[in-house]
Amino acid sequence: MKEVFRITGGEALEGRVEVRGAKNAVLPMLAASLLTEEPVTVCDCPDITDVADMVEVLRALGAEVVCERGNITVKGVPRLTEIPPHLACAMRSSVFMLGALTAQCGEVRLFTPGGCRIGARPLDIHLDGLERMGAKTEYDENGVRCFADKLHGADIIMRYPSVGATENLVMAAVKAEGRTRLIGAAREPEIVSLVRLLRRMGADISGEGTPVISVTGVKELDGAVARPVPDRIVAGTVMAAVAVCGGRVELVGADPSVMGAVISPFLGAHTFLVEHGGRIVFESDGMLDATDVRTGPYPLFPTDMQAPFMACQCYAAGMSTMCETVFEDRFAHIAQLRKMGARIAVVGSTAFVDGSEGMRGARLEAADLRGGAGLAVAALGAEGESVLSGVRFIDRGYESMEKLFSSLGAKITRERVPE
Ligand code: UD1
Repeated sequence: MKEVFRITGGEALEGRVEVRGAKNAVLPMLAASLLTEEPVTVCDCPDITDVADMVEVLRALGAEVVCERGNITVKGVPRLTEIPPHLACAMRSSVFMLGALTAQCGEVRLFTPGGCRIGARPLDIHLDGLERMGAKTEYDENGVRCFADKLHGADIIMRYPSVGATENLVMAAVKAEGRTRLIGAAREPEIVSLVRLLRRMGADISGEGTPVISVTGVKELDGAVARPVPDRIVAGTVMAAVAVCGGRVELVGADPSVMGAVISPFLGAHTFLVEHGGRIVFESDGMLDATDVRTGPYPLFPTDMQAPFMACQCYAAGMSTMCETVFEDRFAHIAQLRKMGARIAVVGSTAFVDGSEGMRGARLEAADLRGGAGLAVAALGAEGESVLSGVRFIDRGYESMEKLFSSLGAKITRERVPE
């Protein structure tokens, strides 16, 4: 049996959505908890499978983990330095153990990381940085081993502002001897959340949110409690659904100060974002203008919003474009959108989306997390019924998506059907 979403499109969306902590902040923050023996609590964690898998990884390494109403407390140092292969292959974020375990235990062995298939996703920036700090790396067909008696500070020029490499190298540097500077670092708000946690643990870090992050190593770190930035991709996905269906939704807890690039392509003659007394309300009459969007590292439009926003472009009046610059293979959803009647041509890394055709329900197959979210958005706006499989990918990053959208009035159910 497999799980599918059965979606009948066309309902306007009304109500409130509580936006929880960002998956992409929670995962490295949980990895950072291994840098101290003292308890570290990450608050407001979403109930998604990527977080559950990370908890399994931490337990498998020997940490005690207590999950209580979204607050996850991790205690104890790792006994193992090898991520069990079944977990490493299922979840790309076990890659965060590169920095945390090399710093804490002097060694880590990582089987080739799994996760979404959206491009080659090499680890060269992570490993080059670790080598600059004195680590040695060995590869074989199964993965990579990274080890160091002692890490030392270094000036590391990053050839691309990789989010994961920035996080790994910050974690590696917090206990290294001397000062590390990451030059050309990624600036994502989720990295700022990680740094805030590490600073509460006693780390000496400055420059997060800018292209140069400076870390001066300290001997020991303490326990701490911290809250991640709210999930701007979940908030943006809800906005995308409201944009295609029409309606009015309050995004409780969303932080518009980190969502400029997510919000701006939505704004036009038919959509409004009202911020009033700390409340953010997104409103749309279901009509959309054509837009030209290009993904890029923060503060540019996030690649994780590319598929949900392309679903909107399928409903917009006229020709839109979507240029994907971050991952080279992140257009798997286009073949599925075409089944719904979308007219999309791809030239190189740009999709030309002609929104003039009506979209209708279809049998759809999600192949990755954000592509799956985009297909759900497209189905919510389409005429007739869609059956969307590959729900397990969506569950990696969205907490019960069917409950979220049905609470807003959408017709969406989760069903088990034969494979
Ligand atoms: C993180 C996010 C993911 C998001 C992505 C870009 C998490 C858990 N995941 O992924 O949701 O889509 O940022 O915002 O936070 N690259 C290299 N060499 C490296 C590392 C990366 O060439 O050593 C390339 C990748 O192949 C990709 C680009 O850099 O083309 C961006 O990757 P990166 O920023 O590292 O993304 P992730 O950290 O994997």
